[in-house]
Amino acid sequence: MRQPVLSNEKMAWTKLAVLKELPPGSLMEVEHGDDLVALCNVEGEVRAIHGVCPHHGGPLGEGALHGELIACPWHMWEFHSGTGACAFNASLKVPTFPVRVEDGDILVDLA
Ligand code: FES
Repeated sequence: MRQPVLSNEKMAWTKLAVLKELPPGSLMEVEHGDDLVALCNVEGEVRAIHGVCPHHGGPLGEGALHGELIACPWHMWEFHSGTGACAFNASLKVPTFPVRVEDGDILVDLA
């Protein structure tokens, strides 16, 4: 049986930051065109989620990282950095993006 070929060809990796700017336990906001992306480092694992809160548009990347949860700075709604799920209503989600770190660069697939 033929195995599927795994490829990065359809991925759109974009460098958004460098790892040394995002130590474990930190959160940052990155502008990309008209979009905002929130990057965080959870115990060495870099994660990326859409940077605009679905409540009233707060900048998630300017909030706080509590373990794996990102707290919006405006009204403190929390979102899981890996799944994008809201902590008190899992059906409410913020989009998440694949991340890889290469030669100290943080690359995010925003496609
Ligand atoms: S705008 Fe994010 S919690 Fe209200």
